[in-house]
Order: sequence, then C-alpha cells, then structure tokens
Amino acid sequence: MTKVLVATDKPFAAIAVKGIREVVEAAGMELALLEKYTEKRQLLDAVKDADALIIRSDIVDAEVLEAAGQLKIVVRAGAGYDNVDLTTATARGICVMNTPGQNSNAVAELVFGLLVYASRGFYNGGSGTELKGRKLGILAYGNVGRNVARIAKGFGMDIYAFDPYAPAQAIENDGVKAVASTEELFAACQIVSLHIPATPETKKSINHGLLKSMPQGAIVVNTARKEVIDEAALARVFEERPDFKYLSDIQPGINAELAAKYPGRYFATPQKLGAQTSESNINAGIAAAKQIVDFLRNGNTKFKVNA
Ligand code: 3PG
Repeated sequence: MTKVLVATDKPFAAIAVKGIREVVEAAGMELALLEKYTEKRQLLDAVKDADALIIRSDIVDAEVLEAAGQLKIVVRAGAGYDNVDLTTATARGICVMNTPGQNSNAVAELVFGLLVYASRGFYNGGSGTELKGRKLGILAYGNVGRNVARIAKGFGMDIYAFDPYAPAQAIENDGVKAVASTEELFAACQIVSLHIPATPETKKSINHGLLKSMPQGAIVVNTARKEVIDEAALARVFEERPDFKYLSDIQPGINAELAAKYPGRYFATPQKLGAQTSESNINAGIAAAKQIVDFLRNGNTKFKVNA
C-alpha cells in the first residue's frame, strides 16, 4: 500500500491531521505520523518505506533523501522550501512541492500582533503610538506581503512595497505604492516587514546600510527567515540607534544577547509560530495531501519547485 508519512517536528493541529488522514485514506493510501521527533535518526527510520512525505520546516537533506528508497514526492506544507535539498531530490527523481498561499494569512496577522505589541511599549502601561498614518514598507509582495497590505489598509497605514519579481502595476492596483528598490523602501518607511525567502541572493541582504537609512522610530518585523538579516549589522544598529526596534518570529543567533541588552526594543516569539494556527495547518496540510494524491494518481506537478 502507498505510504504517506507526515513528519513534523512542530506538529499540525489535530484537526488538520484528521483532514490529511481523510484525504490520504479516501485515496486508498496509508498515513504514517512522526510528530515532535527529537532525533534525526527517527526521521531516517520513518522515511525508509514512505512513498510520499509531508513536512513543515523539517530538514530534508541528502541523508534523509538517501534513506528514503521509495520516496517519490516531498511536500513542504507551507511556503519556504529552503529546508529541502532540491539538488539531491532532483538527482534522485523525487518531486518537491510547496503549498503557496495556504498559511499566509496566519503569518500576516502575526505581523500586526507584533507591531501593536511593540507600538504600545510591549504593554508596559506607558504612552505608546498608533499604526494609523505610518509608512509601512513590505519587502516582497507575494502571498504574505499581499495579506499584510490588506490588513494594513484596515489600520489606515500608508503602504509601500518592493518586489523585484512583481510588476509595479500589480502592486499599485492594490492601492499600494510600488517603489523601485529595497534601498528606497527602507529609506522611505518607518516600519518595514520582511517577506523575502532565504536564497543565496537574500541571505544577509538586510544589511547595515538599509537599517541605518530608516526614518526615526524605525521598526523592522521579520516573520520570514533569520538568514536574511545580517546579524552583525543588526547588533551594530541597536548600538547606534536608540530609536530602533526589531521584532521577530525567527530568533537570530544573537537573540539572547539582544534581548538582555535592549529590553523594550527587541522582541522574538519563543518559537517560530507565524503559521501555527488551526486554519493554516488545515489549509496547508490538506493541500499537501491533495497534491500528493494528484501527483501519484495523475502526475500533476503544478506546485513542483525543483527541476
Ligand atoms: C513557511 O515557509 O511556510 C513558514 O515559514 C511556516 O513554517 P512552519 O510550517 O515551520 O511554521
């Protein structure tokens, strides 16, 4: 029987697993679950007889792919697939997919949770500030960026965006001002929300020059990937700019140092939880299961991300 393994270090909500199971079993396949595993060995054992694999941020490297002798497809239930070794997957004839858009509202809502929290002094009881009328820069106008823009309109923010892959007109059609570069976005906006993937080009791309150029009262919100921030530059800007705040759903390596040194200016969630809602677990998990069934039955590769 075809075996679909759900391997999630950070598990889906139970209701999402139920939905995944229904899709898999209705297709005459078997579902196996590996949740909250603590050792890579457990994943290596579990993938041995899996035909399909559903993961989240779980690392699927060459060793995992090589241990999975029957594997035909990996679906990253979510957007970013920087946790999967695409080159090895391609070399082994394994299809890799993501489920774009399925968890983006959850991440976008968290952006505003973080922003309100920081603007009100992390609820310290002092006089805070409002988001209305503030310039918000959205870096990368994909599924999450567009949801951020939609919510920002409700807050009455002045919204800007830059995305080298999105036509300016598509951005402007949403009532968002398209700027011509990342530099222009940071220089114009007091608040910048990052939605770029971690790629060789974007790693450490949020550098000292960009952070330094932001207007007074700057806030950077990172619900994307910790790798996109140049951590040395971040530490330097904290030192140089007493007005600078950094809010993160992904703790940089220097997290403990920043939290201790700059209370009230640095906040990170205790673990990456932007996409951790029942709704997005259901959306992304069930989409992943359906994509697997459609691929194994009909060869549908619509969401394939590797060559
Ligand atoms: C994504 O790339 O989809 C998000 O970063 C969510 O990741 P998660 O599934 O590990 O919460």
